[in-house]
Amino acid sequence: MLDIKSFIADRVTLMESSEIREILELTEGKNVISLAGGLPDPKYFPTEELAEISSYIIKEYGSRALQYSVTRGLREFRKEIVDFMEKTGTPGERPYNIIVTSGSQQALNLLAQILVNPGDLVIVEKPTYLAAINVFKAVGASFDGIPIDDEGMRTDILEEKLKQLKAERKRVKVVYTVPTAQNPSGVSMSNERRAHLLELAEEYDFLIIEDDPYSHFMFENVEFKRLRSMDKYRVIYTSTFSKILAPGLRLGWVAAHPDIIDALEIAKQNADLHTPTFNQLIATEAIRRGIVYEHIPKVREAYKRKRDVMLQALEEYMDNMAKWTKPVGGLFIFVYLDESIDTKEMLPEALSAGVAYVPGSAFYIDGSGRNTMRLNFSYPSEEEIKVAIERLADVVREHVSVQR
Ligand SMILES: Cc1ncc(COP(=O)(O)O)c(C=O)c1O
Repeated sequence: MLDIKSFIADRVTLMESSEIREILELTEGKNVISLAGGLPDPKYFPTEELAEISSYIIKEYGSRALQYSVTRGLREFRKEIVDFMEKTGTPGERPYNIIVTSGSQQALNLLAQILVNPGDLVIVEKPTYLAAINVFKAVGASFDGIPIDDEGMRTDILEEKLKQLKAERKRVKVVYTVPTAQNPSGVSMSNERRAHLLELAEEYDFLIIEDDPYSHFMFENVEFKRLRSMDKYRVIYTSTFSKILAPGLRLGWVAAHPDIIDALEIAKQNADLHTPTFNQLIATEAIRRGIVYEHIPKVREAYKRKRDVMLQALEEYMDNMAKWTKPVGGLFIFVYLDESIDTKEMLPEALSAGVAYVPGSAFYIDGSGRNTMRLNFSYPSEEEIKVAIERLADVVREHVSVQR
């Protein structure tokens, strides 16, 4: 008998599929309100404008739009990205500091490949973005996690950890952080902690990956500086057009020291030669016509309303049964239930009750956080959010009463 599995390389055992994608598949086509994914609300996609731009690009740029192009990304697109960063609070970039990627997910994947040798130590927030854990795992990273609170990563605990690791002669290579409107918690790192993190990077000689898909969706007047605007050497910045335009275009970018960009370019050549030329031209034109700038405040308002609806529904239905973060931005609320409740075990019941969420342990490198879950508010409608939280509360109530 042919054993196909025996042909699969060992490294695949290091790769984990995203629990979120699996849950999304389970919920497809069923009467389940999904609070699981991190999808933008498609109602706000600038569909008509993009239809017009797409045909303009084909007519105007013709064969160029359909041709192979350079690995780093089109120069005019990189210039628009530099300009966008400048106008939105991160000045001082140059096109040679930028590489265009197929979403920031590819940026993370390539960064893991060029920075992390098997066994290298990567520090992440606890909890952190699930798919970042997966890309670092896939290259054999070892991890340490630093807890967060309402002001983001506890840099005081990080400092203790760094001291301890130094005493053990262990080197930290990279700290990966989503400092602004974090996924999964929605909290932001305070400016004091940002400054502290950069001091620690100097003192203990590590690089920082600043993953920043959500900073354009801040609902509160929180003063924040992107780490990249504070340090152009140690901070590798990645962001994406997924939330500020449309995720289906698969457009992201990295802003970093040119040596990092050069290494990324080689890794990207191996991965996919380049990000689709056509899509880069569409986004270039969408920035030039001001569509991105108009889109951001519209979506921000909508998500803020949805966040408020979810917070209110949580107050109404889950008070006394749970605690949750109060996101200052982004797409998610993170919920903490009684320690005795395992949200992974509870998920099938929630799905039967017609609501999906992501069990929080997926966001912890050490499998902790079993009593937590991530709820998304950008995708469901306001009405759906209310119904979903009511359904979820019924499920949680059962568990609370069983435990008591
Ligand atoms: C923190 C974070 N980083 C990266 C990504 C990847 O986004 P994309 O590949 O669509 O740019 C996401 C997507 O949700 C995210 O939440």
